[in-house]
Amino acid sequence: MAMLEVEHLRKSFGGLTATNDVSFRVDEGEIVSIIGPNGAGKSTIFNLITGVYRPDAGDIRFEGRSIVGKKPNEIVDLGIARTFQNLRLFMYLSVLENVLVSQHHKMRSTWLSAVLRTPAYRRQERAARELASEKLAFFGPRLMSFRLNQPVLVLSYANRRRTEMARAMATGAKLLLLDEPSAGMNPKETAEITQIIRRMRDEGGYTIVLVEHKMNLVGEISDRVVVLDYGQKIAEGDYHTVVNDPKVVEAYLGKKAETDEGAGAGPRETRT
Ligand SMILES: Nc1ncnc2c1ncn2[C@@H]1O[C@H](COP(=O)(O)OP(=O)(O)OP(=O)(O)O)[C@@H](O)[C@H]1O
Ligand SMILES: [Mg+2]
Repeated sequence: MAMLEVEHLRKSFGGLTATNDVSFRVDEGEIVSIIGPNGAGKSTIFNLITGVYRPDAGDIRFEGRSIVGKKPNEIVDLGIARTFQNLRLFMYLSVLENVLVSQHHKMRSTWLSAVLRTPAYRRQERAARELASEKLAFFGPRLMSFRLNQPVLVLSYANRRRTEMARAMATGAKLLLLDEPSAGMNPKETAEITQIIRRMRDEGGYTIVLVEHKMNLVGEISDRVVVLDYGQKIAEGDYHTVVNDPKVVEAYLGKKAETDEGAGAGPRETRT
């Protein structure tokens, strides 16, 4: 059974159709990449799946049940967590606290038990810390020891991205949606995060959908690739098939030709 089924999804903002009749499915244990030029509608798909936006039409099913109309926190509870293209971390909280935040919804304690620090509360807190450390350890020693207690503000951009991924993992989700996980990372860090995403699937048991611009990462780890352009799915298949598809080449080269001519240089739309 498919873990995620997106069917005939549509979303417009004013006159702009950001998602136009998009359908795809993700099976348990897969790594699926969504690619496409800037403004193609990749992040909008994540915003629709996670309940940030409500689709105008179409359906999204997770483990066979429709999640359309559910609130973002309900969708996390069902087992879908995400990271954002523009990170959403609490800059003045520590690395550990940022990851603990994601488990807060699962803690079954009252404010009184927290104030009194009852044994049950302390047990839950210890378990939450252990889980947070376990997820942070996926990224090697760099977020452990003294870094655990450093505010996110002092971290490198790459470490902030890693912290956000650990937070998504610690929600208890089965399906992770990663929006440009390698953005701001150098080639060495990108090669490393590629292997970590593979381990998140192989060892962590997560099913992963990622949005990426770096084709070497996409080519290396994707079981399947979905290509969007102007809100529509223009291709789907294994990496080599889609990157050689004339429609995909045109979508990318068309952008390059525009840029080369100087007409409409740069991204088609501003990033959100
Ligand atoms: N809340 C919104 N209000 C109005 N327009 C929006 C909104 N969110 C997205 N859009 C528009 O929808 C289109 C798709 O945006 P989206 O962010 O999904 O693209 P993307 O493929 O993620 O691009 P990028 O690669 O630059 O991140 C763009 O034209 C964008 O400006
Ligand atoms: Mg985006």
